[in-house]
Amino acid sequence: MRREIRITPSILNADLSDLDNEISRVAGVSDLIHLDIMDNIFVPNFTFDFEQATKIIQSCPIEVDAHLMVADVDMIAPAYAEVGCSSVTIHAEATKNISSTLRAIRKLGARAGLGIKPATSIEDYIDVIDDIDMFLIMTVEPGFGGQKFMHEMMSKVRRTRAVIGDRPIWLQVDGGVSLETIAEASEAGADVFVAGSAVFNAPDPAAMVSSLRNLAASVSD
Ligand code: DX5
Ligand code: ZN
Repeated sequence: MRREIRITPSILNADLSDLDNEISRVAGVSDLIHLDIMDNIFVPNFTFDFEQATKIIQSCPIEVDAHLMVADVDMIAPAYAEVGCSSVTIHAEATKNISSTLRAIRKLGARAGLGIKPATSIEDYIDVIDDIDMFLIMTVEPGFGGQKFMHEMMSKVRRTRAVIGDRPIWLQVDGGVSLETIAEASEAGADVFVAGSAVFNAPDPAAMVSSLRNLAASVSD
C-alpha cells in the first residue's frame, strides 16, 4: 500500500513579525503547520508561551501539529489539544507519565505523538505503541532550525517503520529536511516531513512544499 505523504512546514524560521502572511503562503499546499514550542529548559531556546501559541493555533487556517520541547510536558500537553491542535507531540525524555499523557491527548480529540531525541532508542517505547498515533524521530538535536540532517538516524526510522507494521501510525522526521535529504528519509519509511528553513528560506515556499512532496512520494512504497 502506498503511504500518504504529509508535509508540515515549521514556522520556527519564518518571519514571526508577519506570521499570518507567512502561514498563508504555504497553507494551500501543506497538510499541517508544525509549531515548535520550546521552554528554554528542555532545550536551550524559547519560542512561544501558551498564550502566544494559542493565538497562532486558533488563527491558523489549516491543522496545527504542536511539537512540545518543554520540561513540564505532562502538565501542559492536554491544553494544546484543548485549544485545537490536531496533533500534539510530547518528548519521551520529558514525560513522567507517558501513557496517561498520550491517552489524555487522544481523549481530547488530537493525535498523540511521541518524539525522541537522536540519542534515545525507539525500542524502549514499543510497549506504549497502542497509545501512539505518530512517532517523531528527530534528525537533529532539538532546539534550533537550520541544522544539518543526521543521516545516521535513518536506521532508527527503518526500525520504527518495521515496528509500526500495519498500524495506522504516522512516522515523522524533523530537522534538516530539504530537497537533498527528503528522499532518503522517505525511502527509510518516514511519511510526515517537517521542513523549516528549506521552506521559508526558499524564494517560493509553496513551490518548495510541492517539490518536497513530489520527491518524498517518488520513493515511497
Ligand atoms: C528543531 C525543530 C524543528 C525545526 C526544523 O528543534 O523541532 O521543527 O524548525 O527546522 P529545519 O527544517 O530548518 O531543520
Ligand atoms: Zn519541530
